[in-house]
Amino acid sequence: MFDLIIKNGITVLPSGIMEADILINDEKVIGVSIPRSDFNTAKRVINARAKYVLPGAVDPHTHFENPSRDIITAHDFRIGTMAAAFGGTTTIIDFAIQKHGESLLKSIEERRRTADGKVVVDYSLHSGITDLSSEVLAEIPKIINYGIPAFKVFMTYRKERWQIEDGEFFEILKQVAKNEGLVCVHAENGDIIEHNIERLLKKGKTSPFYHAVSRPNFVEEEAINRAIIFSRENKAALYIVHLSTEEGKKAIFKAREDGYPIYTETCPHYLIFTEEKLRKSDGMYYIMSPPLRKQKDTTALWKGLEEKTISVISSDDAAYLPRYKIRGRDNFTEIANGVPGVETRLPLVFSEGVNKGRISLERMVELLCANPAKIFGLYPKKGVIAPGSDADIVILDPKKKLFLNNLHTCIDEYPIYKNIEITGIPEVVILRGKVIMEENTFLGDAGQGKFVKRKINPEVLRNPIC
Ligand code: URP
Ligand code: ZN
Ligand code: ZN
Repeated sequence: MFDLIIKNGITVLPSGIMEADILINDEKVIGVSIPRSDFNTAKRVINARAKYVLPGAVDPHTHFENPSRDIITAHDFRIGTMAAAFGGTTTIIDFAIQKHGESLLKSIEERRRTADGKVVVDYSLHSGITDLSSEVLAEIPKIINYGIPAFKVFMTYRKERWQIEDGEFFEILKQVAKNEGLVCVHAENGDIIEHNIERLLKKGKTSPFYHAVSRPNFVEEEAINRAIIFSRENKAALYIVHLSTEEGKKAIFKAREDGYPIYTETCPHYLIFTEEKLRKSDGMYYIMSPPLRKQKDTTALWKGLEEKTISVISSDDAAYLPRYKIRGRDNFTEIANGVPGVETRLPLVFSEGVNKGRISLERMVELLCANPAKIFGLYPKKGVIAPGSDADIVILDPKKKLFLNNLHTCIDEYPIYKNIEITGIPEVVILRGKVIMEENTFLGDAGQGKFVKRKINPEVLRNPIC
């Protein structure tokens, strides 16, 4: 007797797409087979005929309960991971960003205390380094052994006290590479941004659109090139977060052509919106960093997904209460940076990408499931439907239409996705064999998500493998 059988679904497997039965026991996939009439005895049988069956998606970039300057993001670990579940994401990786003077371990333990007991999907953390010292450098191998092999650094955000200097970045790359870890970087030139902001404010150019003017494409391009050169010199692997520009994409394409293990992600908002949104009266709701770009960038990013320069689509979910957006209507520097996205990521990529013929269904599964799991050391436990993997599964109805008006979030008045119609939504979401969302009803429990220790396959760190 199996715990669960998912029958007859159009199933995305590493070998391709086939109609299949999936057998599940003790939280794991124990078999995948062509449909068989004798596979019908289980505690529960779900008939997924005409539905797509995908691995639970992995979102390697969320900011839940994330303090920055005077505010904190609105999605706490319970609401954020519940929204993730509704959107077909069964594993998230958030951040433990070091406070100045604090050890990396202390920041990780504090974040785990905040998250455990609330999370409804599985989770991990990246270790954010903001205050480098010899003690912190010495801690890096211990953090990797602890099961956190990726470190996040910021080349901007001086006011938040997150920005690190180039020399520190260089040392972090060296130490992380030596210990088989990966550095993730927010690549924007902070000095140029500060200079531009000062100049714009002096001229009275303060509306939301000037946020984008203060961060032109070359700000990202230059930082990406600098980060690539620093990585090359240290034989270090690098993951560039939230890529937004055509120019940045070209630099990454070249580095990968030259064989360097440089990876990047983009986010749905850079694929579906352009900077024109910032000119409207509700422009402040579309503020994130890097900012929305021009149509030529959006087009280049879609191409980058298809041509495999971009390996991952993350959400960069950083949800703020509307009041923290509105307060900067007349001074863009007061607008909290970031937008929600953890729930809408998979439905938008399916609807805008697969349904519109921009990417294949298999490519979507690479971008949302397999590749983030591979790059961040979760594969094949997560990101794939295969014997032995965790039974994290999404059954998606490819025909169902929905306006993204009633999201499962504490900021449902947040307007940016309103009136966007999508086709294709997750109908059933399964975490380690347990149905946690079915037909728009959440069936999970706070605290059921587990902290997952990670180890990156050395191959990922030597060559661009995906
Ligand atoms: O604007 C953004 N992206 N906010 C979240 C923090 C970050 O830079 O990823
Ligand atoms: Zn960032
Ligand atoms: Zn982010």
